[in-house]
Amino acid sequence: MHIDVVTLFPDMFAGILGDSILKRAQEKKKVTIDLRNLRDWTHDKRRTVDDKPFGGGPGMVIKPEPVYEACDDLCKKNTRVILLTPQGEKFNQRIARQLSRMRHIVLICGHYEGFDERIRELADREISIGDYVLTGGEIPAMVVIDTVVRLIPGVLGEKDSLVNESFTTSLLEYPHYTRPRVFRGKKVPEVLLSGNHEQIEQWRADQALKKTKKRRRDLL
Ligand code: ADE
Repeated sequence: MHIDVVTLFPDMFAGILGDSILKRAQEKKKVTIDLRNLRDWTHDKRRTVDDKPFGGGPGMVIKPEPVYEACDDLCKKNTRVILLTPQGEKFNQRIARQLSRMRHIVLICGHYEGFDERIRELADREISIGDYVLTGGEIPAMVVIDTVVRLIPGVLGEKDSLVNESFTTSLLEYPHYTRPRVFRGKKVPEVLLSGNHEQIEQWRADQALKKTKKRRRDLL
């Protein structure tokens, strides 16, 4: 998969892309990620990307020209263009799975008051990461990249770590324990030490259901 990120703040991505699983995924050539500065598609001396809204009102609006030109340069036949905005469909694991099967995605990060409405026509999809407003689309783009890249086959070492995790089955994940068996008086559930795999599977299924009922009834 190839990901282009069109942003006014490419430096914000260095930490998250340069460490841990995302770093390894790039080293293993499972994904290539290019950070593109929207200002590179401006033609004036001040590299202007925004302007005042017609009709008045506070703040500035991202101009259509640089975003359209970025797409002219970056988009190919198989490209999906995704706009990060608080007005988009709410991101979830199902959308992440769909995106993880794409060949090329272009993530466009907004800023200021928002995008000129005509930019929306460029996008195949608008995604919000939740009902709250961030200062820009960069952190949402990082959330999308992180969630999608770990789903690309071969990125995670253990196949099972994808199979059982929360949201894959529409249930929250069962509780995990590691050593020591007793920590500050808190014991690991007996069944996990029993070596009886059937019982362990049953216990985990029960726990996942119990936890989901208690915390996220909406998922059931
Ligand atoms: N830009 C600002 N807030 C956002 C959000 N919640 N999701 C996606 N993009 C955004």
